[in-house]
Amino acid sequence: MGEYLSALEQATAEAWSTPLNQLDVSKAHRFATNTHWPFFDRLRKDAPVHYCAESMHGPYWSVTKFNDIVAVDANHQVFSSQDNIVIGDNPPEFAPPMFIAADPPVHDVQRRAASPAVGPQRLGELESLIRSRVGSILDGLPRNETFDWVPAVSIELTTQMLATLFDFPWEDRHLLPYWSDATTSSETVGNTSLTRERRQEILMECLGYFSRLWQERQAAPPKFDFISLLAHDPATRNMIDNPIEFLGNLMLLIVGGNDTTRNSISGGLLALNQNPAEYEKLRHNPDLAANMVSEIIRYVTPLAHMRRTALADVEFRGHKIRKGDRVVMWYVSGNRDDEVIDNPNAFIIDRDRARHHVSFGFGIHRCMGNRVAEMQLRILWEEIMKRFPRIDVVGEPVRLESNFVLGITSLPVRIPA
Ligand code: HEM
Repeated sequence: MGEYLSALEQATAEAWSTPLNQLDVSKAHRFATNTHWPFFDRLRKDAPVHYCAESMHGPYWSVTKFNDIVAVDANHQVFSSQDNIVIGDNPPEFAPPMFIAADPPVHDVQRRAASPAVGPQRLGELESLIRSRVGSILDGLPRNETFDWVPAVSIELTTQMLATLFDFPWEDRHLLPYWSDATTSSETVGNTSLTRERRQEILMECLGYFSRLWQERQAAPPKFDFISLLAHDPATRNMIDNPIEFLGNLMLLIVGGNDTTRNSISGGLLALNQNPAEYEKLRHNPDLAANMVSEIIRYVTPLAHMRRTALADVEFRGHKIRKGDRVVMWYVSGNRDDEVIDNPNAFIIDRDRARHHVSFGFGIHRCMGNRVAEMQLRILWEEIMKRFPRIDVVGEPVRLESNFVLGITSLPVRIPA
């Protein structure tokens, strides 16, 4: 802890002394060491719309205040998602199209086809199933023994949730995080364990597997899982004829809910341990779980940014953004904007208007799975509080080196007997 505080102090000194035109908030090691905060404090105060001329990703604009982020995110006519939604312009060579990286009309029809899988009616039907699965995972956890929370709970639970949304063969469900990791294998996401060739090979296996599921589902009556919905919707039922586009959207649907939910599960437990008075509040009133979940998602901000590309020259908050410029919305910073959120650095589980955060984005690309993520986390905390008054974090978390996914890769914990 002492080491962390001195690293944070050094980062603070650096953040406030570096000339503005040399500030580059995209350095991944800052996120791995959790010392990115003062750099965003500086930008929000001194240059809320900021141009970084030189970085390992090339030049880019940063938008760091809550309302400015909403303004960019809501203006898809000027700020396009086409082809790329992360800061770097050097995505892996093999980058199939997907609707998060598309503008209307392609985006709209594909999103509309898939979204009933996570719509209110479907979620109502899934709640008791998810609850019983959460219960089994929790009942199987060791007592009085140190174990890693990330694989045991965060990854396992998220995998089960995804398998349910795809109605994926249960015994093969471990393939989902395997494919997700292959999808996100890139420097931006801090996961470079695969060669490009191996990555592509694994993704083609994913396509092969899902193509078989598609054929089965298309021949059967429609259901509410992602594959059946896409296979039956008039706007997408020929998607299989363009297998690479089908694969791209599979990659999106697998990845969209994977790292994000996983890291909210880990980050929430860590935040409660770092804020014992809040943990005590929850013990006294477990009904706070639903509100707490929104606070966790704000506080953790599982995706640090989304990026857009300007389609035309545009004047934004007194700056001239030119056609083709890359514009990065730093959600991680918007969620700490004290002009919109009171006491934003504090984790307060009964915060007023806790859903008022930018972690899910805004506008036409606003997270499609936001309700299912919230439901999953709420059920988890309701079931935890029925069983364990305390889960103690007993070692330092290990964080991912990425400026996109704010992730925890390991979190040692112990549940007292
Ligand atoms: C706490 C968990 C989650 C967070 C923080 C999160 C965050 C985000 C963000 C920031 C975006 C882009 C928003 C924008 O550009 O305005 C997004 C889009 C998306 N998310 Fe999530 N997400 C989460 C969980 C999920 C889950 C569980 C699923 C589904 C299984 C999902 C599926 C998607 C999809 C399909 C999109 C693309 C939407 C579009 O382009 O229209 N997400 N998410």
